Amino acid sequence: MCYFVAMTHQEIREKFRNFMESHGHTWVASSSLLPDDPSVLFTTAGMQQFKPYYTNPAMAPAKNVASIQKCVRTSDIDEVGDESHLTFFEMLGNFSFGGYFKDEAIRLAYDFITREMGLTIDYVSVFGGEDTVPADDDSERIWKALDPSIEVRKAGRADNFWGPTGDEGPCGPTTEVYVNGIEIWNIVFNQYFQTKEKELRLLETPGIDTGMGLERLAMVVQGKANIYETDLFPNHPTDRAGRIIADHSRAIVALIAEGLEPSNKDRGYVLRRLIRRIVTLEYMAGRSDVDLGPVYEQEKQKFLKTLGTGIKELGRVAEVDAAVAFRLYESYGLPYEVIKDIAGARAGSLTRGAFDEKFKEHQAKSRAGAEKKFGGHGLLLDTGELKAGNPEELQKVTRLHTATHLLHAALREVLGTEVHQAGSDITPERTRFDFTFPRKLTDEEKAAVEEIVNDAIKRDLAVNMVTLPKQEAEGTGALFFFKEKYPDPVNVYYVGPDMLNAFSKEFCGGPHVTHTGEIGRFTITKEESVSAGVRRIRAVIS
Ligand code: GLY
Repeated sequence: MCYFVAMTHQEIREKFRNFMESHGHTWVASSSLLPDDPSVLFTTAGMQQFKPYYTNPAMAPAKNVASIQKCVRTSDIDEVGDESHLTFFEMLGNFSFGGYFKDEAIRLAYDFITREMGLTIDYVSVFGGEDTVPADDDSERIWKALDPSIEVRKAGRADNFWGPTGDEGPCGPTTEVYVNGIEIWNIVFNQYFQTKEKELRLLETPGIDTGMGLERLAMVVQGKANIYETDLFPNHPTDRAGRIIADHSRAIVALIAEGLEPSNKDRGYVLRRLIRRIVTLEYMAGRSDVDLGPVYEQEKQKFLKTLGTGIKELGRVAEVDAAVAFRLYESYGLPYEVIKDIAGARAGSLTRGAFDEKFKEHQAKSRAGAEKKFGGHGLLLDTGELKAGNPEELQKVTRLHTATHLLHAALREVLGTEVHQAGSDITPERTRFDFTFPRKLTDEEKAAVEEIVNDAIKRDLAVNMVTLPKQEAEGTGALFFFKEKYPDPVNVYYVGPDMLNAFSKEFCGGPHVTHTGEIGRFTITKEESVSAGVRRIRAVIS
């Protein structure tokens, strides 16, 4: 009796390595997902670690190399959950820097796919020419010489031209191999170097860069209809949410393993979005069994504090446009993907481009606001909290004002959240802050409060403002004195990377410093009773 046993992904890896080594390639280990190249966020392709060799082949450890590279790509994140797109994947690749070119590269691909993997090629595509880049007639001829019956399709720059990664680098026309309707292998002929000004220059030594997704290859080799049915995903998730969780989990674990932490910027922000998306999908499904270690758990607990309110707010909106989506992001930390997942058709017209545009607008506005703040506008505010007569005094009360927010947050941290503001008064000399608390503070408590404030100052945290409908602002957990006092919509000032991770957030008319480092050293000068259950602190900065 004879059983057909499909090749495991481990066997595919071994076959690829053996094949490339036996054809004169030096094997190179996968490089980090976080490359040194500042113009890219992540390693998105096998060629990333070899990028300098295309312009400088003498630097290369060998003319021909091959690798299996772990990659993270967010360009396909909206497609994840279908049969073949991922954010984390492994890429089998062979590369040459002056060793061989089109003939050899195409023959290697043909032999590996048809002989080693035993697959039948549906068709291949080649570059049909566009702009100043001529059609790649050579590749068509080479394919036909290998297999006269092969179908060769032609496409333009959008489909059959690859690179560069980042803002400059090697790039060139490609030929792609399709099996069962899926693009399996992309073979890039690095003939050009694209400059930062988008000018294409001919490379002195044309090179080869190929990339074949391990998951897709396993899918066709194992005769599956989607990547999640291969042995790379032992749980074989069948629904979209389950598949997104499976994909994002792999990316999250791989990124955390490289030492990345969730944050509000660049790489860290991608990690944060991936985590928040899983947390949301779990929350929506009423489960909580994804366990990806302490970094994941910490971010999850933080996000869960505002997620419920965010979902409720999102539920109130009939049509989610970019402005609404960005507001929900700012107030509750809901990333674009999460809003899309939850709102479905109500966010049908929302595009990532429009959302990103709001981001940029917001950043430009906060920069302009920061510049205007000390320009002599509005010396006195209608809150009656601040008293300043000239720009120097305004600067001093502004610093004291932010310090007062920090004091409020620190008091709640040390004494508990029953502490509420009962009044405040700020002059250029000092801040005076009244708050609800039943007894005198101990020396230790006062020292702890001072230390927390000074620590927040030392960390030079950003101070930002967001304008929100009052009801929504309340949902963020921001503190307010008594809410009738504030206009609708209301400004919420928060100290820290974002609303969710803010050290302090309060309804407030401003003004504030842009970074806590501007405040200087904070010292409590007096603590006393004002009335039953209300204490008063006076503090200065130096
Ligand atoms: N560097 C070729 C690819 O990623 O498709």
